[in-house]
Amino acid sequence: MRIPLLAGNWKMHKTLSEGSALVEELLAGLGNHTDREVLVCPPYTALAALRPLLENTPIALGAQDVYFEKQGAFTGAIAPAMLVDVGCRYVIVGHSERREVFGDDDATVNRKLHAALEVGLRPIMCVGESKPQRDAGQAEAIVTAQVRAGLHQVSAAQMADVVIAYEPIWAIGTGDTATAADAQAMHAAIRATLNELYGQDVAESVRIQYGGSVKPDNVDELMAQPDIDGALVGGASLKAESFLRIIHFQ
Ligand code: 13P
Repeated sequence: MRIPLLAGNWKMHKTLSEGSALVEELLAGLGNHTDREVLVCPPYTALAALRPLLENTPIALGAQDVYFEKQGAFTGAIAPAMLVDVGCRYVIVGHSERREVFGDDDATVNRKLHAALEVGLRPIMCVGESKPQRDAGQAEAIVTAQVRAGLHQVSAAQMADVVIAYEPIWAIGTGDTATAADAQAMHAAIRATLNELYGQDVAESVRIQYGGSVKPDNVDELMAQPDIDGALVGGASLKAESFLRIIHFQ
């Protein structure tokens, strides 16, 4: 039984006061769900301040990235244990913006994923193809290769803590979401890859989120797909009303 994970990736948005206000509104409107899990991933600067607001609530705290080294002379970087220290349960690794803007390749993503697991964080590993790759018919090959490379030397036992997020790059921030059928087809291909790597039990238990222009008006159809186990939401997670509607998908 896979519990859907509805996650807000705030990206480079929200000051402390804005982030606190959003969290207060989310908590007020959340209700009592036991059949879904909710997560917010604010910028690093808001993590410590939001921690006390989220403690003992149904909303978990996560970060948007992490460095793979434990400590040292890495100016600007944040270590996995530092995220645990501020109350993070999850961390996103391999977001396409990290890959495209900051140069994270599959090997880096794999190192970050291992480093997160080592300290007990649950990594959300993002994968996804570009528009030219999709148009060339390479989407499935690209995405499943990212899955294999990102999970290099991750054990079956460790997979209990791993979440995968399929985020087609052309659907991010564009309003141009994948159709539910196209998303489902890719999620099934990712699950088939997990089956090859780890066998059926692990493949059936790993959550695969969809991300890319998830909105109140398309979330129900996406979440109705058998292999879509949650959403990683950018823009629509920045307003309580739209994120709450997504959390309350039917
Ligand atoms: P949007 O929901 O704004 O398309 O962003 C998706 C995303 O990148 C979440 O990580």
